[in-house]
Amino acid sequence: MIKTKKELSTGAPAIVVLAAGKGTRMRSDMPKVLHKVAGEAMLAHVVRAAAALEPQRIVVVAGPGMEDVAAAARQAGATDVVIQPERLGTGDALKAALPVLQGCTGRVLVFCGDAPLVTAETLGMLLARTAGSAVAVLGMEPENPAGYGRLKCDANGMPQAIVEEKDASEEERAIRLCNSGVMAIEAVHLPTLLGALNNKNAKGEYYLTDVVAIARESGLRCGVAVAAAAEELLGVNSKAELAAAEAAMQARLRARAMEAGVSMMDPASVFLSADTRFGRDVTIQPQVFFGPGVTVGERTEIRAFSHIEGATIGADCIVGPFARLRPGTVMQGDNKIGNFVEIKNTMLEEGAQASHLSYLGDATIGARTNIGAGTITCNYDGKNKFRTSIGEDVFIGSNAALIAPVTIGNGALVAAGSTITQDVPPGDMAIARQRQINKTRRKKAG
Ligand code: UD1
Ligand code: MG
Repeated sequence: MIKTKKELSTGAPAIVVLAAGKGTRMRSDMPKVLHKVAGEAMLAHVVRAAAALEPQRIVVVAGPGMEDVAAAARQAGATDVVIQPERLGTGDALKAALPVLQGCTGRVLVFCGDAPLVTAETLGMLLARTAGSAVAVLGMEPENPAGYGRLKCDANGMPQAIVEEKDASEEERAIRLCNSGVMAIEAVHLPTLLGALNNKNAKGEYYLTDVVAIARESGLRCGVAVAAAAEELLGVNSKAELAAAEAAMQARLRARAMEAGVSMMDPASVFLSADTRFGRDVTIQPQVFFGPGVTVGERTEIRAFSHIEGATIGADCIVGPFARLRPGTVMQGDNKIGNFVEIKNTMLEEGAQASHLSYLGDATIGARTNIGAGTITCNYDGKNKFRTSIGEDVFIGSNAALIAPVTIGNGALVAAGSTITQDVPPGDMAIARQRQINKTRRKKAG
């Protein structure tokens, strides 16, 4: 990210991501921040946005027993994971991070693990525009403010208090400016401000949002910056909101892909993951799903109704319609994978193709080799998996069963309908099927 001069002068912040909430409204056994958007936990999106600011620390606050949250946080790049012993509110959650924030200077940027669309640009914008404020709030004006805290400002437009919806009067609920959940607080004031919180409110929680009113009462400067797009700060508290975040993220990823030179005939029906990567001039037909870990090379065409995950697809390939590429698929380039072909943990060297109705698992397919319709690599004996190795320029006839472990040499030919249990030497033809017998039928009398 390119930082403006002003941002640089404010210094890198320390970052705290709040992620200890139960997420009761999700009605799920899984911690809220692990629910996925574009194939990745919400927490991972948020931590990545944080990391782009090159902060002093990235502290994630998790709940007791949330080992999976801690692991996801570390994997995404968090420097520290702290535990909030009891879920007593967002203010109490930030308190749990105080010990690891000792020694941090400048400002502490706090936001929620349940707002996966937040970008480093917007976080940087808040820091840049509110330099010098002891407490700064990123405001937003969502179309539907229901559920968000309302940001009350004075005549000069400076924040006075944040009122949570449950505690708000009719008049306060009419305020359009909401708390996005992103705040920047000067590290030196943090212990005092948090120490002054109480839980006398509708939820009986220690609200982090109360630090605004407390700071004002102590004569500290409070600032606000309003996010250009409220959608970016959508907080996910329910499955419906998770779906809304997904839709917004998909729109963002599709726009980014098209910007990079991908053609989509019906963008709204193409589902991408946060890490899907495309070369130029890739074409994607309608109804295609990209799970995590997919790279698609230049000029490759992905035809309708294909399901692809964990696959590296080279340049100039044709995939689908109705293809299924599972993790470990590597296509070197110039490959053709047609309808109803499933591929898993298999390398297709340049020019290899399987045009119809096949399962290729745990295999290597040599350059220019043709896999006939209905070919199956029988890779599993009920207990273990075995590899099938097929050389270059091989022709596998239709409906062949290749019982692994087995090796087919370069230039070999496997006759249609064969069940291959032994290696085939290079250049040989293998036929493994019963010889056909034609029997003369008794002619009808007359
Ligand atoms: C919070 C804000 C609200 C803001 C909204 C933006 C407060 C009191 N309210 O409301 O003003 O408009 O976010 O989305 O801050 N968490 C903990 N420990 C806790 C409670 C929560 O770590 O004890 C974490 C949750 O995991 C979550 C975040 O804090 O990631 C926010 O909690 P949540 O319950 O979603 O707050 P909201 O009601 O959305
Ligand atoms: Mg929330």
